[in-house]
Amino acid sequence: MDSFMIKGPCRLKGSVTISGAKNAMLPLMAATIFTGGKCRLENVPDLRDTRTMIKLLKVLGIPAELNEGTLDVDASDPSGFEAPYDLVRTMRASIYALGPLVARFGKARVSLPGGCAWGPRPINLHLQGLKSLGAEIRIDHGYIDASADGLKGAEIILAIPSVGATVNLMLAAVLAEGETVIENAACEPEIKNLADALIGAGAKIDGAGSSRIIIEGVSKIDPFTHRVIPDRIEAGTYAAAAVLTGGEVTINDCNPDHMHAVIDKLRSCGAEIETAERSIHVKGPDKIFPVDIETGFYPAFPTDMQAQMMAVMSVADGASSFVEHVYTDRFTHVPELKRLGAKINLDGSVAVVNGVERLQGAPVMATDIRASSALILAALVAEGDTKILRIYHIDRGYEKIEAKFGKLGAEITRISE
Ligand code: EPU
Repeated sequence: MDSFMIKGPCRLKGSVTISGAKNAMLPLMAATIFTGGKCRLENVPDLRDTRTMIKLLKVLGIPAELNEGTLDVDASDPSGFEAPYDLVRTMRASIYALGPLVARFGKARVSLPGGCAWGPRPINLHLQGLKSLGAEIRIDHGYIDASADGLKGAEIILAIPSVGATVNLMLAAVLAEGETVIENAACEPEIKNLADALIGAGAKIDGAGSSRIIIEGVSKIDPFTHRVIPDRIEAGTYAAAAVLTGGEVTINDCNPDHMHAVIDKLRSCGAEIETAERSIHVKGPDKIFPVDIETGFYPAFPTDMQAQMMAVMSVADGASSFVEHVYTDRFTHVPELKRLGAKINLDGSVAVVNGVERLQGAPVMATDIRASSALILAALVAEGDTKILRIYHIDRGYEKIEAKFGKLGAEITRISE
C-alpha cells in the first residue's frame, strides 16, 4: 500500500492546473449506458474512481478506454445488468448504474453500497424515487433488484436535495413516458453538467441547476460527446493550501463561478484572491484569521471542503467552529489532525478548533478522499516529516496530487511498499 512522505514546512508558489471533476465524470459515464452507441468524454481525470467506473462499464458489456483525458465508451452492445459488490464497495457511485439500466432495459441488479468511513450514507431516496417512476424494487441477498415494464413520469419530492438521488432519477426519468418533476433537487454544478450532456443527446430537461427539474421523457438518448467541468473541490483544495502556507498560487482551468462559498471564506481568512473567467490567483496572508464554517447543499459551503478548511484553521490566529450539516459524522480527519498537534474539540456534528502556532510532523492515516487531502495540507505546514498511510483514498479523487504539489514547491514523495 502506498504512502506519502511530506517534509514541512513549506510555502507554495507557482501555478497548478485543475483536472475534470470526479463527481461530474461519474454520472456522465453512467449516462453512456443507455445511448446504444459510441460516446466520448473529454477532460476526464485519471483517478482510481475513473478506473473503477471503467471496470463497471466493462462488466455491463460496455468497453471504455481512457487516453490522456479522453474517454471513449462503446455502449453499442451492452450485455450485463449487474453491478457486483466488489465494485460497489470500492465506489458508491456505482449505484448510478441503477437508473439508466432500469430505464433502458427494464432490469438492473446493483449491490447495496453499505456504509462508508464516516457513517451510513443511505440510498432510500434513490429507491423511493425509482418506485414513484414505476420500478419494482426488491432487496435480495445484499442486492437491489429493480425491474420495470416501462417507467412512467411522476412528481418526486426529495426529502433532502441529494446529489446521488437527483442523478439517478434524472437518468431514469429521461426515458420514462411523460413528465417527471423532481422537487428539492440538488443544485450542484455537476447536475447541470449531466443535464447539458443529456439535452445535447436528445433529452428534454428544464431547470437543472435549480431545485425544480422538469423532464419530459423521450424514447431514446443518442450517443454524445461532452466535456467534464473542472473539479471545484480540487481547485478549492489548492486554494486552501495556498492560504495555509502563506503562499501565492495561480489555479488554472477552474471555474470560480462554482466556488463562491469557498472563495468568500478564504478571503475572510485574510487571503487576497483575484478571479478571472477560468482561473484564480490566491495570495495567502501572513496571519490566518479564524472563520466559522457551516456546510450545506450547493451553493452553501461544500462538505467536501470541510476537512481541508479545518487543516487551515488548525494554525489560524484564534478559535473557529465547524458545523457539518450534510454528513453529521464526517470527522474522521479530526483524530489524525490532532496527531499533528491541532487543538480540536469535537462534540457531535460541531468541532471547535483553537489555532496553534505550529503543527508537528507525525505518522497519520488517510481515511477518505477529503480527510486525506486535509492531512496533506496540514503536513505542508507541519515541522518535520509526516508520513500519510493508506493514500489509495487520495488516488480515488485527486489526479497526480504529488506532482501538482511538487511543482508548487512541496516536498512530497510517494513510497510504494
Ligand atoms: N441521503 C439520504 N438518502 C439518500 C441519499 C442521500 O438520506 O437516499 C442524505 C445523505 O445521508 C446526506 C445527504 O442526503 O446526508 C446528501 O447526500 P448526497 O446523496 O447528496 O451525497 P452523495 O450523492 O452520496 C455526493 C458526492 C460526495 C459529496 C456529497 C455531498 C459523488 C459521487 N459524491 O455524494 O462526494 O460529499 O454528494 O455533496 O458525487 C467526495 O467527492 O469526496 C464525496 C464524498
